[in-house]
Amino acid sequence: MSAIVDARALVREYRMGEEIVHALRGVSLAVHEREYVAIVGPSGCGKSTLLNLLGVIDRPTTGELSIAGERVDRLSDARATDFRLRRIGFVFQRFYLMQALTARENVELPLAEAGMAGTERRDRALDLLDYVGLRKRERHRPSQLSGGEQQRVAIARALANRPALLLADEPTGELDAYTGAEMIALFERLNADGTTIVVVTHDEDLARAAKRVVHMRDGEILG
Ligand SMILES: Nc1ncnc2c1ncn2[C@@H]1O[C@H](COP(=O)(O)OP(=O)(O)OP(=O)(O)O)[C@@H](O)[C@H]1O
Ligand SMILES: [Mg+2]
Repeated sequence: MSAIVDARALVREYRMGEEIVHALRGVSLAVHEREYVAIVGPSGCGKSTLLNLLGVIDRPTTGELSIAGERVDRLSDARATDFRLRRIGFVFQRFYLMQALTARENVELPLAEAGMAGTERRDRALDLLDYVGLRKRERHRPSQLSGGEQQRVAIARALANRPALLLADEPTGELDAYTGAEMIALFERLNADGTTIVVVTHDEDLARAAKRVVHMRDGEILG
C-alpha cells in the first residue's frame, strides 16, 4: 500500500504579537491508500490546523509533508492552489457553495478550472450529482436545497477531479441526526469505492464509521 499522507514532525505556530500559539507540536501521521481515518479531540487541540496542512491550504512552520508522493510543505501559493485542484477534495462544515450557481454549475467549477471542455464537464457533473443522489436537483441553487443536499453537492464538487485524498472538517456539524446519518453512509460508500478519507469530527457516529480513529490533544497525536 502506498502512503497518501506522509507527515513528519509537523509544527504549526501562529505568532500573535509577543505570544506564540503552538497549534501543532510535532505531528507525524501516515495514511495509506483506501484508508478511512477520523481525527478526534477537544476544541482547540489542532484538528483543523492539521487538516488545513494536509489539504495544502496552509503550510507548516517546520516538518515534512508528502501527499500522494509529492512534497507539499514548501509549495508557493500558486503551486499549492494547482496541487489542491488536482489532488485534494475538501469538504467544510459550512459547505461554501457558490450561491449564484446551480448545483450542477458548482460541481462543474473545479472541472472548468482543470480545463475540461463544456459537454464532458456537464456529463461528469451530472454523474457526480447522480452518485450523491441529487441528479434531480441539478438546477437548484444552494438556497433552494436543504443542508444535507448542500453538503452532498459539496461532496460531489470535492470529488470532481478524482482527488487522491478527500478531507472533511466537521461535515455533519450543521446537519440534524437523520441527515448526518445519510452523510455517514455516503462517506462509507465513497471509501468502499476506493476513496481515501480523512475526516475531523466531534460526531461519535461518524468517528465510529471510520476504520481508524486518531486522537489529538494539545497539538499532538496521542498514542
Ligand atoms: N489563524 C490563527 N491564528 C492564531 N491562532 C490560531 C489560528 N488558527 C488556529 N489558532 C489556534 O490554534 C489552536 C488550534 O486551532 P484549531 O482550529 O486547529 O482547533 P480545532 O481542534 O480544529 O478546534 P475545534 O474543534 O474547535 O474546531 C487553537 O488554540 C487556536 O486558537
Ligand atoms: Mg476545527
